[in-house]
Amino acid sequence: MAKQCIGLDIGTSAIKLVQVKVSRRGMALTNFGIEPVPPQSIVDGVVMNHRALVDALRNLASRIHLRGKSMAIAVSGNAVIIKRLTIPAMDGPALEEQMEWEVRQNIPFSRDDVVVDHEVLVQQTPQGQMEVMLVAAKREVVGQYMQVVRDAGFQPVVVDAAAFSLQNAVEGGVGFSPGETVAIVNVGATFSTMSIVQDGLPTFNRDLGVGGNTYTEAIRTRLAVSTDGAEAYKVGGAIAAAGAAADVVPQEVHHILAQVSEQVAEEFQRSLDFYLNDAVDTHLSRIYLSGGSALVPQLPKALQDRSRIPVEIFDPFMRVSVDPRRFHVDYLRANAPVAAIAFGLALRRAGDSA
Ligand SMILES: Nc1ncnc2c1ncn2[C@@H]1O[C@H](COP(=O)(O)OP(=O)(O)OP(=O)(O)O)[C@@H](O)[C@H]1O
Ligand SMILES: [Mg+2]
Repeated sequence: MAKQCIGLDIGTSAIKLVQVKVSRRGMALTNFGIEPVPPQSIVDGVVMNHRALVDALRNLASRIHLRGKSMAIAVSGNAVIIKRLTIPAMDGPALEEQMEWEVRQNIPFSRDDVVVDHEVLVQQTPQGQMEVMLVAAKREVVGQYMQVVRDAGFQPVVVDAAAFSLQNAVEGGVGFSPGETVAIVNVGATFSTMSIVQDGLPTFNRDLGVGGNTYTEAIRTRLAVSTDGAEAYKVGGAIAAAGAAADVVPQEVHHILAQVSEQVAEEFQRSLDFYLNDAVDTHLSRIYLSGGSALVPQLPKALQDRSRIPVEIFDPFMRVSVDPRRFHVDYLRANAPVAAIAFGLALRRAGDSA
């Protein structure tokens, strides 16, 4: 069986890398790292500063003594469209043909401009239908991300949609219980990815335009500080609220973190309501939060209060054995939720379809 890939999550604020070894004895961490990315390197999902991303990946790989070449990467945001379709049950060439037709019906880009893939979720329902997930990604954007990986000296062998990497991370990291419906929300810097999984199958995906930058912007304008200053206040305030020692930050920062968390939670709730209104007899048993901005402690509380659904911070390494002689365990634990998507990618094997 092919070995797992190196999981690489290229974000607008940082690159996250995870490498795990899966054996009969379970999962073991072989490498991990986070490298900041200069601002504006990626704008609206499009690579604007190729060189900066290549350098960041090279620096990270050399700093953590990365071994191996095959990488799994993810694309997200406007570059990706995911549609769950119900069509008459079929397979083989008929299904391929039907999918081509569905692409033309459902994807608002020219056929030549997208790479497409599909996954059969339910082969045949009692009504003779089938459920298929159709994924289309802009060819140009996929190409840009792959080129970053190649120019840094690696091989992109799997390209996934971030929403599925996230689901894969939770499945591999903590597992889904049969019959359970859970929401997973990865809160990044520029946007958040929500994925609702029912009985282990993806049922709803949506990207939301709120994230860490929403907090930083609010601090920047309200306290009239620079973006870097606001970012430092935010992280300092978050660390202090989480109970750890931190540099002193103005009291106002805590208020802003709480207020913006309310606003972000409201935005998430709107999407949860949209899903729940449509889904008959469904209730969400929990919400997992991941991504760098899940580390703002006021956010899980605000979301739990509003949704009345238990909110958990997702730790992808919960079942992964970590050698304390090789890894700085405190750093890893503190940043584990940031690595959720990279972890999901790290469970992919070369040849896996996206
Ligand atoms: N300890 C912390 N407390 C509060 N916020 C944090 C902390 N650590 C990271 N963040 C925030 O998390 C965000 C980065 O998270 P992440 O790496 O998941 O985003 P990204 O993948 O780079 O962005 P995107 O997915 O939007 O492209 C930044 O906004 C950063 O300020
Ligand atoms: Mg991200």
